[in-house]
Amino acid sequence: MARILIVYSTTDGHTLKICRVLQRVIEQHGHAVTLTDVGATEQIDLPDFDKIVIGASIRYGKHGRQVFDFIQKHRALLDSRPSAFFSVNIVARKPGKNRPETNPYLRRFLKRIGWRPQQLAVFAGKLDYPRYRRVDRVVIRLIMLLTHGPTDPTSVVEFTDWQNVEAFGHALGEI
Ligand SMILES: Cc1cc2nc3c(=O)[nH]c(=O)nc-3n(C[C@H](O)[C@H](O)[C@H](O)COP(=O)(O)O)c2cc1C
Repeated sequence: MARILIVYSTTDGHTLKICRVLQRVIEQHGHAVTLTDVGATEQIDLPDFDKIVIGASIRYGKHGRQVFDFIQKHRALLDSRPSAFFSVNIVARKPGKNRPETNPYLRRFLKRIGWRPQQLAVFAGKLDYPRYRRVDRVVIRLIMLLTHGPTDPTSVVEFTDWQNVEAFGHALGEI
């Protein structure tokens, strides 16, 4: 049995929902999984874990600053054991942008940070107009208009391919 830590960065909770599915699947492989918000990692004893998985959503083109800082700060530890990263964004709903090699945010992030986790994934996120602040709703609608997505301001759409999430969970569980 391995101990696996999943560190997540979320604004509206969708990345956490994905993490919970990953946790369930990884636990089926007999491993122990701990989930923690990237903002609470100071309380975690990182060297205790055999594998570290980081998942983060995109907001206005970027993963949360805390994710970048966490990776920079613990780079040596992350390089010393198996690690994985996944990105959650709405652009990944497009077939040409839904893989680690083709998703612009993931590519840019990895290039900038220079860290090479062994396992990578990208998942399409959730669109939830009613939940957004007015200004965010306007911007997201504009992006959707330009990229031929839903523009009805009452739309709530989960673009996530849960089979892909489960498959990634199984891959993470094979240590
Ligand atoms: C204010 C805001 C800005 C966003 N900006 C982007 C973006 O630039 N590119 C993108 O692909 N998705 C963008 N998204 C979509 C989110 O990445 C998506 O909704 C994701 O599921 C959010 O996950 P979370 O709830 O874990 O934060 C944005 C969403 C919001 C609310």
